[in-house]
Amino acid sequence: MENFEYLNPTRIVFGKGTIARVAELIPKDTPLLMTYGGGSIKRNGVYDQTIAALEGFEVVEFGGIEPNPRYETLMKAAELGNERNARFLLSVGGGSVLDGTKFIAAAMRFPEGDPWDILTKNAPITDAVPLGGILTLPATGSESNGNAVISRDSTHEKLAFYSEKVYPQFAVLDPETTFTLPPRQTANGVIDSYIHVMEQYMTYPVNAPLQDRQAEGILLTLIEEGPKVMANPNDYDVRANIMWTATQALNGLISCGVPQDWSTHMIGHELTALFGLDHAQTLAVVHPAMLRHQRKQKGQKLLQYAQRVWGITEGSDDERIDAAIEKTEAFFRSLDVKTRLNEYGITDGYQEAAKRIGARGKILGERGDIGPAEIEAILGLCAA
Ligand code: NZQ
Ligand code: ZN
Repeated sequence: MENFEYLNPTRIVFGKGTIARVAELIPKDTPLLMTYGGGSIKRNGVYDQTIAALEGFEVVEFGGIEPNPRYETLMKAAELGNERNARFLLSVGGGSVLDGTKFIAAAMRFPEGDPWDILTKNAPITDAVPLGGILTLPATGSESNGNAVISRDSTHEKLAFYSEKVYPQFAVLDPETTFTLPPRQTANGVIDSYIHVMEQYMTYPVNAPLQDRQAEGILLTLIEEGPKVMANPNDYDVRANIMWTATQALNGLISCGVPQDWSTHMIGHELTALFGLDHAQTLAVVHPAMLRHQRKQKGQKLLQYAQRVWGITEGSDDERIDAAIEKTEAFFRSLDVKTRLNEYGITDGYQEAAKRIGARGKILGERGDIGPAEIEAILGLCAA
C-alpha cells in the first residue's frame, strides 16, 4: 500500500425528516446565503421544509444555479453573498448546486484577481466561507468531499478544483427528497457513483485488500440496487441505499493508499463542455472504451473485477476481461443510458477533446500513459 493521508471533516446527518435539524448544524445568528438550482426544490417541498427549519435565521436566497454550474452565474452569487455579509452558505440541491456553492465560498474570500484562476492556474484557496448542504441527488459525492467542477460558457471549459477549505461542514441526506428525481437523473446517479469507484479501483494491485473489498462492495451494491431504484422509485429503503452508497463512492475512503486513474472523468468533462451531454452520460460512453483500450495495463485488476464483481470464472484471461467489460456496458444500458457517441448523434468533432486535454499538458492514466493520441483512440472506440 502507498503512503496516504485521510481527511474527512463532513458530518453526515442521514434519514427521514432530517432537514428539520439543519438549524442545529449552523452556528446561531449567522447570516446565510441559501443557494439552489432551477426550481426542483420548490416543486417537491424541500424548499418549504428548509425555510421552515431556518426560522430565526437571516437568509438571503440565490436560485438558478444550472446543472454543470457556470462561473458567470456563480460570480453573481458571490457578489450577492458579500454585499449581504453572508457568513455561511447553505446549498440545497444536487451536485451542481453544491459544487457551485463551493466555488462561491472560495470566490467570496478570494484575495485579489479573478477566482477563475483557481481552475486554470491552480491559484491557492487560503480562505473560504463555511458551507453545508442539503442534498437532493445522490451521485457526485460532493456532499462529503472537497471537489468541485465548474463550467465557463464563454470558453466552453469545464474544470475541477479541490480544496480542504470547501469540504461541507455537514450534509443532510434525506432519501425522501430523491423520490421526485426523474429516471434520467436517478440512472445518472447510479452510473456516476459506479465510475467513481472504478476510477479508484481499476488500476493495478498494490496489496490493499480492504480498499479493494470496499470498492467491490460498493460496485456490487450498485449492481443490486440500481435496477430496483429504476423499478421502484418510491421505495424508501432502496433510495436510502443508493444515497449512502453514492456518498461512500467518493468521500476519500476507498482511494486511501491506492493508485487512481481519473481518465474517464477528464475525457467526459470535455465531452460535456463540447456537446452538452450530462456528466454521467459521458462516463457511460467513455468508460467501456477506456477499459478496452487499457486492458493490458489494467489486466490484473480486470481479472479480479471479472471474478469478484461479475462472477466470471470460465475462459481464457482475454475472454474473462472481454466478458467483464461487456457486463459493465450492459449494466449501464440496462439503466437506459447510452454507451456510444453516435447514439447521441455525435460522429465527429470529438477529437477536439483530446487536443484540449493535450493543450493543458495533462497526461492521464495511473501510469501516466494516456496522452492526446491515446485519448483520440479511446474516443474512436466510443464513436463506433
Ligand atoms: O436545478 P434543479 O431544478 O434543482 O434540478 C436538478 C437538475 O436539473 C435536478 N434535480 C436535483 N435534485 C432533484 C432534481 N429533480 C427532481 N427531484 C430532485 N430531488 O437534477 C438535475 C441535475 O442536477 P445536478 O446537480 O446537475 O446533477 P448531479 O448531482 O449529477 O451533479 C452533476 C455535476 O457534478 C459534477 C459534474 O461534473 C456535474 O457538473 N461532479 C462533481 C463531483 C464532485 N464534486 O466530487 C464529482 C463528479 O464526478 C462530477 O464531476
Ligand atoms: Zn463523476
